[in-house]
Amino acid sequence: MTEAAEIIRARAGAEPITLGLVLGSGLGHIAEAIEGVSIPYAELPGFPHAGVSGHNPKLVIGTLEGVRLAVLGGRAHYYEAGDASVMRTPIETLRDLGARHVIFTNAAGSFRKDVLPGELLLLSDHINFSGRNPLIGEPTDARFVNMVDAYDPALREALLTAADEEGVALPSGVYAWYSGPSFETPAEIRAIRLLGADAVGMSTVPEVILARFFGLKVAAISTITNMAAGLSDENISHEHTKAMAPLGAAKLENVLRRYLRGLGAG
Ligand code: HPA
Repeated sequence: MTEAAEIIRARAGAEPITLGLVLGSGLGHIAEAIEGVSIPYAELPGFPHAGVSGHNPKLVIGTLEGVRLAVLGGRAHYYEAGDASVMRTPIETLRDLGARHVIFTNAAGSFRKDVLPGELLLLSDHINFSGRNPLIGEPTDARFVNMVDAYDPALREALLTAADEEGVALPSGVYAWYSGPSFETPAEIRAIRLLGADAVGMSTVPEVILARFFGLKVAAISTITNMAAGLSDENISHEHTKAMAPLGAAKLENVLRRYLRGLGAG
């Protein structure tokens, strides 16, 4: 068990959590709704600094819609220090706290005319266009992770049902990971679009690989904050991402709450 998991259990109780939730840019407020114990990353060994503005670097463990869960209010990104495994300990800690699955959220740029800023996208698969892998250096054979159905079909189905019940459009699509921190060029966007991606972002992919490594079932939802580079006249910026993320965040929260209610009832 990670040292962090031991600290969390000592403070919040050893009752296992059902799932982990990782919040992306501008989505941190979902953590505020949880009744429970809040612990800054700085007090958890192996947790990253997570210093990107728009993130809230604390772990909140408690109950939402009757389900015990842990929320990671912020993530560290590969682009902060060049370490693709920077989220390894937090994800291992979710596993150690008893989570069987984890839902990642992020802000992303869309390539699709039917998936506009303020809307959500359920990831069906990803393209690791950065070429970085968080398991490089992992010495055991467990490093050879099977990435077929990395985004769990049953979990996706449950989220689609929850979205449908909430009347929230939740199209599915493929997410491409560019390392950032600079945004992509229009040529890079044209390239990855040809390769089959629907959206682009700077996170999530290394975390999904880590979560699969630790045996967690995964789902991920993007809130679309902009059309990707070259696809509209918007000026893409981090300020813009932070300003736009709350538009999708309310929908995301409704879908997640509905999904959790279903879990609680089941
Ligand atoms: N590119 C990369 N990351 C992003 C974008 C984008 O267009 N929008 C929000 N995060």
